[in-house]
Amino acid sequence: GKYRVISTKPMPGTRWINLLIEQDCRVEICTEKKTILSVEDIIALIGNKCDGVIGQLTEDWGDTLFAALSRAGGKAFSNMAVGYNNVDVNAANKYGVAVGNTPGVLTETTAELAASLSLAASRRIVEADEFMRAGLYDGWLPHLFVGNLLKGQTVGVIGAGRIGSAYARMMVEGFKMNLIYYDLYQATRLEKFVTAYGEFLKSNGEQPVYWKRASSMDEVLREADVEAILVNCSRGPVVDEVALVEHLKQNPMFRVGLDVFEDEPFMKPGLAEMKNAVVVPHIASASKWTREGMATLAALNVLGKIKGYPIWGDPNQVAPFLNENAPPPA
Ligand code: GLV
Ligand code: GLV
Repeated sequence: GKYRVISTKPMPGTRWINLLIEQDCRVEICTEKKTILSVEDIIALIGNKCDGVIGQLTEDWGDTLFAALSRAGGKAFSNMAVGYNNVDVNAANKYGVAVGNTPGVLTETTAELAASLSLAASRRIVEADEFMRAGLYDGWLPHLFVGNLLKGQTVGVIGAGRIGSAYARMMVEGFKMNLIYYDLYQATRLEKFVTAYGEFLKSNGEQPVYWKRASSMDEVLREADVEAILVNCSRGPVVDEVALVEHLKQNPMFRVGLDVFEDEPFMKPGLAEMKNAVVVPHIASASKWTREGMATLAALNVLGKIKGYPIWGDPNQVAPFLNENAPPPA
């Protein structure tokens, strides 16, 4: 292999490795046992010569790492994630390193987890499961684990991009919910979908569904009926977790489904004890197909930059770089 490419973690599948090997790359996979690598750990991995790195959302890709990568002759970095709040794209630009992410392949998988959390919260699945396992079930009762019906309620979506729109469609179509969404951009296709589905329901003699584009996040929180349920599958800091714990304590009927946390991997004090919270460890994109796809896209991102973009003559096969106009390395 002419090019040295590092992956800071073992990643699912073998396709990503084969793609790199077939294209003159030597692939080095870090097998360090600790979950979160420090900046120093990654500098040591990069060493003196490194053409590209595939990294993870747990790593702090800022000035120090991009400087180290650029010194080692590196031209490309890809996050194995769609989110890139862990990446300082300006610093990458400064050092002439192209940055990629892995959109698309995780849209439905992430939306399905958001839907799972919505259902788990509304139907109290985790609490009920604990109850069964604890041997507490001694017969059917009219009041046992009564939750909320989603049908006919309004689901609120903040951020109607790829994932938010996919989730909105699942909830509207699957559960006949109305939609209120907030986004800087108009989600035209989503609006059309809800309108058409509403008309279909009406023609069937059923209660139609409606959509509304809110002019603020507050309006969504005020008007969504899933006000009694909050789901977060984006990034932890969008929710004030201390305030959330307090709200969960004061309002036992309020329920939350969380995939992400303000200070991962930690939870704020009290959250773990709340029966009205369903918490999972940042697994929204964790389906086999998606994780293999993310690894493949991340490898293609790095290859695309090293070998000349787009490598297969099909621009759609390579995720667009986040900073396509990065200046060449000095
Ligand atoms: C996961 O959180 C991702 O951004 O891909
Ligand atoms: C519940 O099991 C019912 O039959 O209503």
